[in-house]
Amino acid sequence: MQRKLHTAKTILTALPYIKRFTKKTIVIKYGGAAQINPDLKDRFAQDLVLLYLVGIKPVIIHGGGKRINTFLDKLHLGTEFKDGMRITDEKVMEVVEMVLSGSINKEITTLLNHHGAKAIGISGKDANFIKAKPLDDGKYGLVGDISEINETVLENIINQNFIPVVAPIASGQTLTHPGYNINADWAASKIAVSLKAEKILFLTDTPGVLDKEGKLLSSLNTDEVEALKKDGTIHGGMLPKVNACLEAVANGVKQAHIIDGRIEHSILLELFTDEGVGTVFSQ
Ligand SMILES: Nc1ncnc2c1ncn2[C@@H]1O[C@H](COP(=O)(O)OP(=O)(O)OP(=O)(O)O)[C@@H](O)[C@H]1O
Ligand SMILES: [Mg+2]
Repeated sequence: MQRKLHTAKTILTALPYIKRFTKKTIVIKYGGAAQINPDLKDRFAQDLVLLYLVGIKPVIIHGGGKRINTFLDKLHLGTEFKDGMRITDEKVMEVVEMVLSGSINKEITTLLNHHGAKAIGISGKDANFIKAKPLDDGKYGLVGDISEINETVLENIINQNFIPVVAPIASGQTLTHPGYNINADWAASKIAVSLKAEKILFLTDTPGVLDKEGKLLSSLNTDEVEALKKDGTIHGGMLPKVNACLEAVANGVKQAHIIDGRIEHSILLELFTDEGVGTVFSQ
């Protein structure tokens, strides 16, 4: 009996958070780096289904950096990064789309559906809902800068009680254009802003943003980020992620969090407990 009471009390501690977030949109960037093993993927899906069943509206944008690297290796296509962006020519783009839209997107959608949610996988090419142009005049090849998001496509999906699962690929201008590879962090942030999301969570493979000594920085503002970029503490894949966080909170999203996707139920820990986890960026 005592144990059952304890269980009931534990469930009730989530109540104020459920009240706060129900009917709100929460955007979750599911980093390729966090998609590491089947058990962890199951926990992720359970968290998502719980959010969905208590009336929260989750939207997922996924990455897939590691799996893209594996495929490029298999095909003996090299890969090069600059400023945390993958230099993308047409051949690389084909692999990026195949892995993101074809493989990972369907895998996440299947996982969520299997666990009892109703998920729909799409990419920015569907209904042309993400349009892009070359980022920095084509400095990174087919890496795109989002020029337009038609959020009504996502809103329609959400209003029909489905969870959108988005592969970060955008349409090109012509029929034969291969499309654009959009950094998933950036896509998630832009989508969160366009949907007026309450929160955005970035699940990755570090406890959050770390300082020079490898200690977790539990909160950050623009000036602190600039200093950390300048001295090289923030580099590689963390660069677009912190930029995406700052962009989201500067444009109406209340909070952005970078959290450790390698921890079981990190989403629930962040949303439904006082302590929270990871690094937070606030308005
Ligand atoms: N100051 C920092 N603190 C923490 N991680 C950092 C820092 N600077 C750079 N990084 C790197 O950023 C990486 C996370 O970005 P990465 O792009 O690899 O993952 P992701 O965005 O979750 O996955 P994907 O790009 O596949 O979606 C970490 O694994 C770490 O190597
Ligand atoms: Mg990344």
